[in-house]
Amino acid sequence: MSERRLEGKIVLVTGGGRGIGRGIALAAAKQGADVAIAELDPDTAKTSAEEVSALGVRSVGFPCDVGTRADCEGAVAATASELGGIDVLVNNAAWTRTPGRPLLETTDEDFARTLETNLWATFWMMRASHPHLLRRGGGSIVNFASNSGTFGRENQAPYAAAKEGIRGLSRVAAQEWGPQGIRVNVICPYANSPGMVAWSETEPETYAASLATIPLRRVGDCEDDIGRATVFLASDDAAYVTGQTLFVDGGAGSTR
Ligand SMILES: NC(=O)c1ccc[n+]([C@@H]2O[C@H](COP(=O)([O-])OP(=O)(O)OC[C@H]3O[C@@H](n4cnc5c(N)ncnc54)[C@H](O)[C@@H]3O)[C@@H](O)[C@H]2O)c1
Repeated sequence: MSERRLEGKIVLVTGGGRGIGRGIALAAAKQGADVAIAELDPDTAKTSAEEVSALGVRSVGFPCDVGTRADCEGAVAATASELGGIDVLVNNAAWTRTPGRPLLETTDEDFARTLETNLWATFWMMRASHPHLLRRGGGSIVNFASNSGTFGRENQAPYAAAKEGIRGLSRVAAQEWGPQGIRVNVICPYANSPGMVAWSETEPETYAASLATIPLRRVGDCEDDIGRATVFLASDDAAYVTGQTLFVDGGAGSTR
């Protein structure tokens, strides 16, 4: 067995321009994967792909709004044609309004956009990737949810609903696609991404309350904590793991 866990694998990660997505791209590349980055911001798509390429693997970065079906299907097709297939799909990109609003003040527009960029995006990416995973003899999907959903944090109604929808979708796909050799798992992370830093600044009290729930008493690192956990689920080390949610959050969600 190769020493590098993702040698010869092709990974597509959404939202890989910064934060956790970038951490996943770097962690996967360090384990030998070629990495495609589908990212809303064309500049960070390019800089992340350059960082990944500098690690000695192939990488492409292209602009993509995962909140539209055409872009999701385009990202999957571009990855398959430019890198030669897809073995691992990581649905990491997400949008939600920051700061959040109470449920009764949530607009239809915010609810819809949050569902589109989280739940619909994950559905569109999974459906479009499925034939490519099959063509490679199976594969692994890692979707991103949140303990905002599992806890039901205030002011997060659209986000919590979307993220819990992703967990349900993932469990169904694990059942339906398991016989085809496709594993589907979910990570609920807690890490010091730019998105997290922005949230800590706009909602300092909610942030402080959430930090106090972490038994390990630190905020996770996008690459070393979340990226490496994603590599574990993507790799054959997790060959007998599917339909699960892994809380990579210092123990906050898992000890609830
Ligand atoms: N950071 C945490 O502690 C935390 C906690 C719970 C859940 N999460 C989840 O982890 C994932 C990554 O979060 P993060 O903290 O790194 O976020 P972030 O905001 O720091 O980065 C998100 C990335 O996704 C990109 N993106 C946003 N909308 C997009 C779209 N429509 N199409 C394509 N790309 C888009 C952004 O440009 C950015 O590069 C998300 O699914 C988030 O909900 C993070």
